[in-house]
Parts: sequence; structure tokens; C-alpha cells
Amino acid sequence: MAQDDSPGGTPGGFPRKIIIDTDPGQDDAVALLLALASPELDVLGITAVAGNVPLPLTEKNARKIRALAGRAEVPVYAGADRPLRRALVTAEAVHGRTGLDGPDLPEPADPLGQEHAVDFIVGTLRDQPAGAVTLCTLGPLTNIALAFEQAPELVSRIREIVAMGGGAFEGGNTTPVAEFNILVDPEAAQAVLAAAHDAGVPVTMLPLDVTHQARTRGDRIARLRDIGTPVSAAVVAMLEFAERFDEAKYGTDGGPLHDPCVIAWLIAPEIFDGRVVNVEIETGSELTLGQTVVDWWGVTSRPRNVRFIRSIDADAFFALLTERIARLSG
Ligand code: BDR
Ligand code: CA
Repeated sequence: MAQDDSPGGTPGGFPRKIIIDTDPGQDDAVALLLALASPELDVLGITAVAGNVPLPLTEKNARKIRALAGRAEVPVYAGADRPLRRALVTAEAVHGRTGLDGPDLPEPADPLGQEHAVDFIVGTLRDQPAGAVTLCTLGPLTNIALAFEQAPELVSRIREIVAMGGGAFEGGNTTPVAEFNILVDPEAAQAVLAAAHDAGVPVTMLPLDVTHQARTRGDRIARLRDIGTPVSAAVVAMLEFAERFDEAKYGTDGGPLHDPCVIAWLIAPEIFDGRVVNVEIETGSELTLGQTVVDWWGVTSRPRNVRFIRSIDADAFFALLTERIARLSG
């Protein structure tokens, strides 16, 4: 990163301990595989939230991906089945009826963790050393907001929050100004940003401005297919399904690979560029609900509360993804 090159605000050990909060989703699934294949990261748990599809599907999809990666020991927990104050909006048009349409993955044999996802997040923050745990959010921020509401005194123990969400120059993908993860639960997003700021926890946001540069393309998919493993075949089937919707929408070769950008940021922050700016979430207006209002030019005196990523070296990103997917032999 040219303007700010520290990946996190507080010291932490290696490998970096993370919790992945997710609503799989094909791009969530690829993010999970990237994380589970990467020795730099220690995935303490996967927490599912309602988003792309309802919770019973997102938690099952998370378990399917855990099995595909051969990582039965990583716990998966189910969390909130609806946003804090609104009816759930889903995205079957993009992800298919199951949320993970494309590959033919078996029903997961390993069960869901017994704990509620929010209790797992709270318990982990309490039990791990202060500054050790990074929260990676790939879906609506409902579980995280509930955890912060339950145990506000633990927020300051978080090392960093890295979230896929929002958009500024690129506009929205679900309304003209709102990105899906933020739109589904804008109150949760605003609460998380406020609590993180108050507790001095760094927040990094990977918005549409960057994820729209990380596009699957024929040659990139071909390199993943060339790996020739069951995992790579599943990844290709997921990406080929998911990219159709966005190719038609944007008229591009390939579709954006949103959520893996969060994981790539943790592993290779040098391939991204951004600024620390003020970001607020619109929660009141019917017209612009869920908009991330980004003060890129510093025209307000509001606090700089988010490292807002704006660009990525997409070739380096796909090279990293391909190399890591090749490590998963399943
Ligand atoms: C985000 O919304 C979901 O559909 C994707 O999984 C990603 O997290 C992109 O707007
Ligand atoms: Ca997602």
C-alpha cells in the first residue's frame, strides 16, 4: 500500500488468528478455501449469518466448504437468521437457489457447532489474548453487531476488522448507491463502525471499488481449472455459475470476486492500495439506504475511521488464489 502500509493496528502473532463471518455464497466459499489453504492464517471458527440465502443454507454451505477443504476440525456456528431491524433481503438471483449453485457438493457429514455464533465470537474474544483476533466479515454485519451489543467491553480486544462491503466511486450493486452486505443490515454496519471507532479498533473495508477490479476472466478460470483437483473443479464450477449474473449486468468478461479480497488483504496487503478516511452508513433515507458515505477527499472533519481500499493488482491476486487453491488436494 502506498499510503498506509501497516496491515493491522496492534501487534499479533503468526499465524494470524481469524474468525470468518460469512453467508456463502460462491465468492464466500472461495474466500473460505483461500483462508483454509493459507499458512499465514489460523481460522479459529467460521460463523454463518443470513444474507445471500437464509441461514439454514448459509451454515450448510459453510460446512460443505469446510469438508471440501478437508478441515473438519474448524468449527462452524450458526448465528443470526435475520437483520437487526429489517426483513432479510437475499440474493438467489446471483447465487442460485442453494446459494452455492454450480458444483455438485455432497451433503456435509460433520455437524454444526452447538454454540450460537454470537456466543462463539464473544467467548473467543474473551479467551484469546487482547489484540490477537481479527474478524473477517463477508456478509451482513448482524452477528458482529450482536456480539458487540452483548459484550461491548470486549471490542477493544479485537486486532482488526476486515470487511467486504460498501462502495463509493463504483456506486452500489443492489441499489444505485448501496452494496448488498451493507444494505441487508445497515444498522448493524453502522453500529459496528461506531463501536470499533470508540474502542480504537482498525477497520479495513474492501468495497466494490476494489472487488470489481478482481474479475474472473477466461484465462484466470483456465489456470484454476488446470490445477486439476476436485477442489479446483468445484471452484471453477462455482465461479462459472456466479459470474453469469454479473457478466450480463456489467457487460464484462468475468464477474467480480468480492469476498476473497478480504482474505487476500490479510495475506498480501502490498497488492492493494487505499486511504484511511471517514465512512458513515446511511440508515435513514429510503432513497439511499445502506449507502457507504465515503469522505475520500477529506471535506469533512469527521473522524478517519476506515481504511478504505480502492485498488488491487488483480493479476497478483489471481496468482495468489491459484497457488493456494492448488494446495488443497481434496
Ligand atoms: C457481497 O454480496 C454478496 O452477494 C457477496 O457474497 C459479497 O459478500 C457483494 O456485494
Ligand atoms: Ca458474502
